[in-house]
This record gives sequence, C-alpha cells and structure tokens, in this order.
Amino acid sequence: MWNDNCLARRAEHLSTQLPAPHFPSEFGDEIILFDSGFAAPQLLPDLSGFAADALTTHREEVLQYASGRGQPYLREWLANWMNEDGCALTADHILITNGAKQGIDLTCRLLLDDGDAIVVTAPTYFTAIPIFRNHGAEFVEIAQDDAGLDVAALEAALDARAAAGRAPPKFIYNIPEFHNPTGATMSAARREALVALAEARGIPIVEDSPYRHVRFNGPDAPLLKALDRSGSVLHLGTFSKLVAPGLRIGWVAAEPALIARMVQLKSEGGSSPLIQRIIHDFARSDQFPTHIARVQRAYRERRDHIVAATARELPDALIAVPEGGYYVWLTLPEHVDGDLLAARAHDAGVHLIAGSRFFAAQSAAAPRNHIRLSFSYTTPEQIDDGVRRLGAVYRALAGE
Ligand SMILES: Cc1ncc(COP(=O)(O)O)c(C=O)c1O
Repeated sequence: MWNDNCLARRAEHLSTQLPAPHFPSEFGDEIILFDSGFAAPQLLPDLSGFAADALTTHREEVLQYASGRGQPYLREWLANWMNEDGCALTADHILITNGAKQGIDLTCRLLLDDGDAIVVTAPTYFTAIPIFRNHGAEFVEIAQDDAGLDVAALEAALDARAAAGRAPPKFIYNIPEFHNPTGATMSAARREALVALAEARGIPIVEDSPYRHVRFNGPDAPLLKALDRSGSVLHLGTFSKLVAPGLRIGWVAAEPALIARMVQLKSEGGSSPLIQRIIHDFARSDQFPTHIARVQRAYRERRDHIVAATARELPDALIAVPEGGYYVWLTLPEHVDGDLLAARAHDAGVHLIAGSRFFAAQSAAAPRNHIRLSFSYTTPEQIDDGVRRLGAVYRALAGE
C-alpha cells in the first residue's frame, strides 16, 4: 500500500483529486464559458500547409532531438521581433519554453528557495499562484489601480520589510499589459518607476506579457524589458494568446548567463522542434500580420459586446474597460459576494471565476466583491445571452 511518508515536502500539500478534464467543446452551446482562457475557435489559424512543409522539407530537423535552448532560427526571429518593440536582444537572450507557464516555473527554479518572498499584484494571475507555492514562495501582495502596480506602495512595502530586518523579495512578478484578471495596463511612467526601483534595490522583475499584441486601442507603453538597463528583467512571452494555446510554445528573454543556467534547469529534453518550425514559418509569412489584425478585430468586437452588455445588465457593477487582452474585471457593490454569484451563475449555465481566487495570500481579507469574465471563447451572441442570464442571477442575489 502506498505510504504518503514517501512524498517530498513539496508534494505533501497537493490535492489527491485528479483534475476534471476541461475541454470547452464538451459543453453544449447553452453553457456560456466566461471562465475560459481558451482562444476563439474561429481564430485558430490553418497551419496545415506549414505542418506539411515542416514534415517533408525539414523532416530530419523536426523529428530529431532539438537544441535545449530552442531552435536558433526561432530564437533569432523572436529577438528581432522584440527588438522592433524597443529591446536590444540577440538569439542568445532567448530560451524557448513550453508556454509562458513553463517560463514561470523555470524562473522559480532559478531564483527561489523554499520560504523566499516574492512580490505579486493583488489580484494576480491565478494559475501562477500554485506554481509559486510549489516553490515555497511567500507572497508580498501589492495593490494596483488603473495605471497598474502601485510602485509607491511597493517601495513602502520594501522599506517596511527592510526596517523589520526581513530579507527582500527575490523577484517582482507583474503583468504590465491587459493584466489577468484586471485588464489594467501599466502606464509608461509607472513602468519607468518600477524598473528604476527594482534596479536600485537589486530585485529582478519577471515581466509576464502574453497579451502584448492582443491590443485593441491606445498606444503601446514600453516593455519593461525595453527599459531594462541592468539585465534584471526576465521577460516571458508566448504564442498561446496570439496564435494558439495548444502549440505550447513560449519563451524567456533574459541575460545569456541566466539563460545558460535556465537551460540546465529545463530538463524535459527541449521544446518540440516540429512546433517551433511551424510557428517560425507562420510568423515569417505574410499570413502573420493579417492574422494579428484579425485577432485584434475579433477580440475588440467581443470586448465591446461584453462591456455594453454588462453596463446594460449589471448597472451596479464597475467595469474596467481593457485596451486589450481576454478579460474584464467587475467590481460589485461591497455587500455582493462574488463567490456566491459565481456559484449561482454556474448553476444557471454561466461559468465565470470569482475574484477572490486571484488573491495569492488567500487571506480572509481578500475582497469578495469581484468577478472576472473572459470574452475570448464566447461569440458576441453568446456574450449577450450570457450577460443577460448573469444579470438575472445577480438581481436575484442582490435582492435577497
Ligand atoms: C498572465 C498569464 N501568463 C501566462 C499565461 C499562460 O500562457 P501559456 O499558455 O503560454 O502557458 C496566461 C494564460 O492565461 C496568462 O494570462
């Protein structure tokens, strides 16, 4: 019989329940999936020509083991792409990963020891929370507003830690664009201030930017990586949100000496060379800019629908209108319990995520009057229907 004493400490606290499969297509059309970070099925590009070419013209390359760092041509293309966005990188600054989540995990492997503190925004990307926890992280939660992470509050928290004789956090994890879950985009001034503060204190920044090119309106603010003068920003990118999440290809952009160490910690034998070839050839083709424009147009339409429908059906809720990304964050009147609303909405066939799940410390003090709605998977018609049904659930709950 299995003896749990055999487990590593990091595995002792993990759930023994197998996760339920989560394929949106298994739900009928009547279930509205506002909880999903899936791409719109209509926007998944036809990569069959690139795949066929990869498996014929490049057969040996794509069916052999790949370089642990990632294929040189894709690293070079990514460095150039980020350089068009203000960075100064070479292929040696890039490590190909299995999505941004592996980038988060590798960053933790590189920087964290059990019990180390890290800075996260309150709220933050909820899938990253268990990854950080698995590495024994303690959370320092910093508030954010419409202009992103509150850098003055961060400075005060760092000062308070130092005054208490506590070690500084090992890194600052932030999502500067179209934050998940709040949709907020950090202003250029805040970005400069954050990079300056992190440099002055010698604390690395982990910039997680999966939605960078899923912008609907407003000017680009500089990448934190583009403002980085000291090599202390580790940038995480991915093709999941712009092209297709099933490809599982992302990247880390960081100093070559850090990339060299990360390669040694990335022990699964390298990301798939077949997928790297397909992505690279697609990204270099003239289909790529057309695809990006189509993605931006379609998600903008969905964003506009969900904002209008929410204003109509949940007029009490404050809605932060995002300039891009996949999500809207609703602030309900203080007495309305977002957890209860999410549970009741689920019963009514509308799936969404309660805001409390995005607070890393999961303290009793976490505000409960928020919900996150994703608009990426649902069509404009489903959005209208789903928000109408959510409005009815909300009115019943608020009237109790
Ligand atoms: C902030 C953030 N980081 C990372 C990811 C995951 O990216 P990937 O699919 O590349 O692992 C997501 C997806 O929802 C996200 O919102």
